[in-house]
Amino acid sequence: MPSYEIAVLPGDGIGPEVICEARKVLSALALRFGFSVRFRDFPFGAEYYLKHGVVLPEGAFDDMGAADALLLGAVGDPRVPPGPLEQELLLALRFRFDQFLNLRPSRSWPGVPIPVNLPEGAEIDILVIRENTEDFYMNLGAAGQGGHIRAEMPFRRGLYEGAAQVELALDPPTEAAFTLGVITSAAAGRVAERAFAIAEERGERVVHAATKSNALPHLYGFWDRVVAETARSHPTIKLKHINVDNLAYQLPRGPHNFGVVLCTNLFGDIISDLTAGLTGGLGLAASANIGDGLSMFEPVHGSAPDIAGTGKANPLAAILSVSLLLSHLGERQAALALEGAVRSYLADSPRRSLPFELEGGAPCPRVGDLVIHALEGHR
Ligand code: NAD
Ligand code: IPM
Ligand code: MN
Repeated sequence: MPSYEIAVLPGDGIGPEVICEARKVLSALALRFGFSVRFRDFPFGAEYYLKHGVVLPEGAFDDMGAADALLLGAVGDPRVPPGPLEQELLLALRFRFDQFLNLRPSRSWPGVPIPVNLPEGAEIDILVIRENTEDFYMNLGAAGQGGHIRAEMPFRRGLYEGAAQVELALDPPTEAAFTLGVITSAAAGRVAERAFAIAEERGERVVHAATKSNALPHLYGFWDRVVAETARSHPTIKLKHINVDNLAYQLPRGPHNFGVVLCTNLFGDIISDLTAGLTGGLGLAASANIGDGLSMFEPVHGSAPDIAGTGKANPLAAILSVSLLLSHLGERQAALALEGAVRSYLADSPRRSLPFELEGGAPCPRVGDLVIHALEGHR
């Protein structure tokens, strides 16, 4: 019997609530599909940070790296200023394990109202593919007073290590800050290659690649060029560069016109919240962070402090992230059954049995139970 060790990092806010359900569903699937799962919990997040003064103990990433996959809830807490948890935990995981390919699917679901009108018979089936290691996420930056900033900034990624030196002088002096964006052909090329391959598998004719080379030609003109070069070895796919502002405009007007949307890191973050909003909400938006080592599966949403502890969190994004995790482990049948179960649950449930996010009345644990119940019909 195949056996998997799954590292679990529930994190903060609604993270533990939705992960509890994701885990329940994964255990139920293991029983039905004949594999076993051992969970290993990692109690990191705001509570740990406030208690110990560090985000992570020494060796924590090595321990996680031993698992077959990582399931993460969300990090971020109003008691901790923005930065350390997101940087040293979430982003650090993506970088340390070189999870360069971020998959963020958004589909319309039966029974789930969407905020836009689609033509008769049309559906939304968008896959945002986000480069996950570079762009403005290099964490290269500084702030300074007196009109003069001098910064020496070493960095390391899976593909390379390097250093940046920046000197910024302002006359007359004023307080200032900067952030450097970096794109390399190695990182842009590998994610573009995967995007075109995935588009071929999906039977797409077009890949849209979000850009902003009109305003930032150094960074995004370079990205466009690498993506276009990669496209040459995929002649069945037509590459369409689209300015990200226009993409934000076109998506709500015609979401059914988009399939694979390839984005740099920052645009992918923003566009994937937009596509989530177009297809029923963040509570349905799953994601995979894929690398050659440990891959990580997590809802697109954050810790939602505004609803934490109320039972109103929708766990379906975390549950659907389990489906992506199972596909990644090669448990294809279980992955499909889970997706089918979520689909039937959404299509067949009376309003009161739907998550609060979908104007229903089912608290988070009830949604998990109902998905497990719906699995009965999907073997
Ligand atoms: P958020 O995604 O946490 O919440 C945005 C809105 O969506 C809120 O109104 C929230 O209630 C709602 N929402 C999110 N998930 C939901 C769910 N499952 N069910 C029902 N409603 C849901 O974004 P934010 O408010 O910008 O960020 C809150 C914190 O989370 C911040 O600390 C941020 O840094 C962090 N964050 C973490 C991650 C992550 O860990 N992957 C992602 C995004 C934000
Ligand atoms: C996401 C989040 C993170 C990101 C934050 C919390 C650093 O918004 O996973 O979408 O920007 O990638
Ligand atoms: Mn985000």
